[in-house]
Amino acid sequence: MGEVLLELRGLGKQFSMGGRGTLRAVRGVNLMLRRGESLGIVGESGCGKSTIARMIAQLTDPTEGEILFSGENVTHLDRAGRRRLWRGVQMVFQDPYSVFSPRMTVGDFLTEGIVHFGIAGRSAARAMLPELLRRVELPAELAQRLPHQLSGGQQQRVVIARALSIQPQLLILDEATSALDVSVQRQILSLLMRLKSEMGLTMLFIGHDLAVVRSVTDRIAVMYSGLLVEELPSAALQQVAAHPYTRRLLGSVFSTADRGNKQIAIEDLSLIEKGRQMQGCPYQPRCAEACAQCAESCPQTVDLGDGHHIACFVKTC
Ligand SMILES: Nc1ncnc2c1ncn2[C@@H]1O[C@H](COP(=O)(O)OP(=O)(O)OP(=O)(O)O)[C@@H](O)[C@H]1O
Ligand SMILES: [Mg+2]
Repeated sequence: MGEVLLELRGLGKQFSMGGRGTLRAVRGVNLMLRRGESLGIVGESGCGKSTIARMIAQLTDPTEGEILFSGENVTHLDRAGRRRLWRGVQMVFQDPYSVFSPRMTVGDFLTEGIVHFGIAGRSAARAMLPELLRRVELPAELAQRLPHQLSGGQQQRVVIARALSIQPQLLILDEATSALDVSVQRQILSLLMRLKSEMGLTMLFIGHDLAVVRSVTDRIAVMYSGLLVEELPSAALQQVAAHPYTRRLLGSVFSTADRGNKQIAIEDLSLIEKGRQMQGCPYQPRCAEACAQCAESCPQTVDLGDGHHIACFVKTC
């Protein structure tokens, strides 16, 4: 197993809601990621996935806990420290078009990071373009195009190529394939798998679709209402998933009766908020297996061995 690249220790984020108190978006998250490994974070809208990613990438400050990257405590960095970290951590978001300047060619967009981080001068960076594009399975001619002259899938490949151009140690993909057509999504997922094995890429892959996340990761962390409720190897997901929430996610992946999903999603958001305000397990209001203890206190995470961790009274007492 590779050395530890990223470690989150009791990481949390509270947002101040003005006169309406605070919102605990992320609470006491412990996670570890080794070099060359791919970790998925899943959970429904609002559970805190992007907030974790943004804290790791120094786009928002944690309010509790620590982040260690390559052995260094990077929890609260100054400007110079952030710049150094961004050389090692790159992030790809859901909407590729939003990161382009409309009048910048693909070639200029791709060379910008290389020059900015001092990896090469402008002309040497331009010479790298065919290889950068080839790596994401795009033809070299695309370097002359403007972003609106690309398809959504091509745009996202270019954004991935740019993130990889500075040879980051960690690539964070936050719903990076969610907006794409299913067949394009499949192509980008297989591209990521190839890059992972060819370049030994370390990835944090965030998504709400368990089947997609499972297909590109070694391990999965399941979040609910700001808490990490279960962590398990992706390959053993179906066999070992024990948390009632993970099992519910699995049920919706493999259920053919998808009707009424939208209704459930709307109901869930208010239950997520309710869970955040509770003393006990935040999933308790929805959990069919809940017992009296679940309403009284929040379960601690228990190590079940073989990379399986769970925070659930029902499954561990
Ligand atoms: N800047 C902010 N100010 C206040 N609340 C915020 C802020 N950013 C996020 N939140 C809240 O924190 C919670 C977690 O948000 P986050 O974006 O991390 O969720 P998510 O799991 O990424 O959801 P999605 O799947 O919809 O992207 C949500 O309740 C959200 O409304
Ligand atoms: Mg998000």
